[in-house]
Amino acid sequence: MPKDEANEVVLKVEEIYKSYKGKEVLKGISFEVRKGGVKVIIGPSGTGKSTLLRCLNLLTVPDKGQVYLEGEEITHAKKNIHQFRQKIGMVFQDFNLFDHLTALGNVEIGLTRVKRMNREKAREKAQEELRRVGLEEQASLYPAQLSGGQKQRVSIARTLAMDPKVILFDEPTSALDPELIGEVLEVIKNLALQGMTMVLVTHEMGFARSVANEIIFMEEGKILESGPPAQLFSNPKYERTRQFLHKISELYGE
Ligand SMILES: Nc1ncnc2c1ncn2[C@@H]1O[C@H](COP(=O)(O)OP(=O)(O)O)[C@@H](O)[C@H]1O
Ligand SMILES: [Mg+2]
Repeated sequence: MPKDEANEVVLKVEEIYKSYKGKEVLKGISFEVRKGGVKVIIGPSGTGKSTLLRCLNLLTVPDKGQVYLEGEEITHAKKNIHQFRQKIGMVFQDFNLFDHLTALGNVEIGLTRVKRMNREKAREKAQEELRRVGLEEQASLYPAQLSGGQKQRVSIARTLAMDPKVILFDEPTSALDPELIGEVLEVIKNLALQGMTMVLVTHEMGFARSVANEIIFMEEGKILESGPPAQLFSNPKYERTRQFLHKISELYGE
């Protein structure tokens, strides 16, 4: 389990608010993630978890509040937004791969287009990232030829290739058949062991328990409570947290 108490703060989120058409979706969210830290965000559907992650890398601009990356405020830094997005990687539920590119092509394209790396170097790095997620041998296959688990691993390799300071995962295994979930969680777990700083939204509580150093329970746009997994799972402060955990364990069998 990552021990991050002494490390520097990589990502700091301060009083984030977001409304859609007058409906408040995020109501003042604050937390910080230290280097090597793994935060898992849990909470009912529609509670603002995806909106929060999108606010962290500015795919969505929050109405109020600040996001800091390594001490630098990025919230309204319009001119550097692309530079910051590279540093805050995002992995989506539905992979978002280019269907017309091979696995290698999908990992390479950000390196040549965004990082302006030359083709040869980009290829080498893309191969290395595919190796890191165990897909060296699938490099020349197209998304249609890959399983869901392999597609998600390509998407993780693509994110890693940008050398992010932190990776955000939005339900990375929710679109997968049950038998494919393990291989993706394994890759994410290895990243945690290698010291990658991560924020994950997931319903995989067994995984959360073994990998996270903090669980955040979100409800209706707010953090109801947070704490180390051992405490939050075994001894939550609020009945609503307990009920949610109970429901999840019935649904997901943990
Ligand atoms: N682009 C959007 N436009 C309007 N409403 C949105 C948009 N994105 C999210 N919402 C609303 O915000 C609420 C929170 O959504 P979301 O962040 O996806 O929750 P979660 O990921 O926890 O399920 C929902 O009521 C959703 O309908
Ligand atoms: Mg969501």
